[in-house]
Amino acid sequence: MEPVKVGLLGLGTVGGGTVSVLARNGAEIARRAGRGIKIVQASARDLKKSRRCDTTGIKLTADPFAIVNNPEIQIVVELIGGDSLARELVMQAIQNGKHVVTANKALIAKHGNEIFAAARAKGVMVAFEAAVAGGIPIIKTIREGLAGNQIQWLAGIINGTGNFILTEMRDKGRDFGDVLAEAQALGYAEADPTFDVEGIDAAHKLTILASIAFGIPLQFSKVYTEGITRITREDVSNAEELGYRIKHLGIARRTATGIELRVHPTLIPHRRLIANVDGVMNAVLVKGDAVGPTLFYGAGAGAEPTASAVVADLVDVTRTLTTDPENRVPHLAFQADALTDVPILSMDEVETAYYLRMQALDQPGVLADVTRVLADLQISIEAIIQKESPDEDGDSTASIIMLTHRVRERAMKQAIERIQALPAITGDVVRIRMEQLSSKQ
Ligand code: NDP
Ligand code: HSE
Repeated sequence: MEPVKVGLLGLGTVGGGTVSVLARNGAEIARRAGRGIKIVQASARDLKKSRRCDTTGIKLTADPFAIVNNPEIQIVVELIGGDSLARELVMQAIQNGKHVVTANKALIAKHGNEIFAAARAKGVMVAFEAAVAGGIPIIKTIREGLAGNQIQWLAGIINGTGNFILTEMRDKGRDFGDVLAEAQALGYAEADPTFDVEGIDAAHKLTILASIAFGIPLQFSKVYTEGITRITREDVSNAEELGYRIKHLGIARRTATGIELRVHPTLIPHRRLIANVDGVMNAVLVKGDAVGPTLFYGAGAGAEPTASAVVADLVDVTRTLTTDPENRVPHLAFQADALTDVPILSMDEVETAYYLRMQALDQPGVLADVTRVLADLQISIEAIIQKESPDEDGDSTASIIMLTHRVRERAMKQAIERIQALPAITGDVVRIRMEQLSSKQ
């Protein structure tokens, strides 16, 4: 049988990795797919740029529309990034009856509902395994492997750059900017790295995971998003002292009143496997009612790990080219007419535990005042540490560090306002959310 003909948009980190993996493993991939998979044309902005992959035999163009309009091409692989040009190209490819594979989480999270509707109308596939957690096949796992479960919650380290930064800062005391520059040089970071450090990239991925886990439409604008830029070494070492690690987590949880969707730094117990996921590695914990807790681990970014997912999608699409569109696995796991509109909870409604750190004048009664505020709002305390620390003027102050039990975010906001208004409290209260991620939750 003739190889299936593929057009590649983008020859950067992931595009280059895809060319290399397909070339190296071509024979084995053909045995799996039932026919060869051949990249016939590829595009990049600058055709003079030297490439790490070997593009011999691939027709190169600087015009990506030449690829989506090429009648010879059956599958378009979009690896340009961004959600403007990429959206235009993907929609045009679909209109031309081509199947699409993409690693672009921003595109799927923001325009996926529209893209999948267009794809259904045309009877084509849009595959996006590489869009979440790099090389970990988490989309296929939730969509197919866990299809018998009601997913109760999932929590993941789903940005490799952010985890790399937090790990290097903790283990080697390295500077934030310095580690970020290294992540960029290694090809891990987004074109705009604020997407990584401010949690936007993780929010894109969480949007996708929540949709396939709970059967809800993609709703990126409803994800609560907080980055890692305000994490200090002091909080990292306080957390360690209390038996916790700070990780940047994406959390989606089904509750009786709606769905929580949130990305923020989180203290998790040191003993959990996911607390020990370091560097560019990602991990996603998924709790299903039948299977219980499951954990998926692997490289979250980088050329070949991501290409591994792109190529797996190419194999999937190739295998099902001749199947009736009605009998394919639905894009978002649930049949398109069976998605539900369960509300997404506002952050005020979310219930979690907290780490609090505040600076107080070292005088009698301060701790009692703080604990009274918490008690008035029914917030119970799990642990307290007090550390003497002279301030800039040499006056004696103390750092008070507390862990609380679970409470609604609205109550915690009120408590923090009241604590900050106490005359003996200097500066803002630092709060980091805390999750046990236990199998009983
Ligand atoms: P790169 O920046 O390395 O590559 C982008 C490619 O697209 C380059 O070849 C570039 O051309 C081309 N390109 C960029 N803008 C344009 C344009 N306006 N017109 C035509 N071509 C253009 O990105 P990555 O490979 O890192 O990322 C690609 C996608 O994969 C993104 O959606 C990203 O979020 C996603 N992703 C990335 C991962 C990673 O580890 N890097 C992991 C998982 C997903 P030129 O080379 O000439 O500049
Ligand atoms: N910038 C992303 C990350 C790439 O660091 O996780 C993988 O999606």
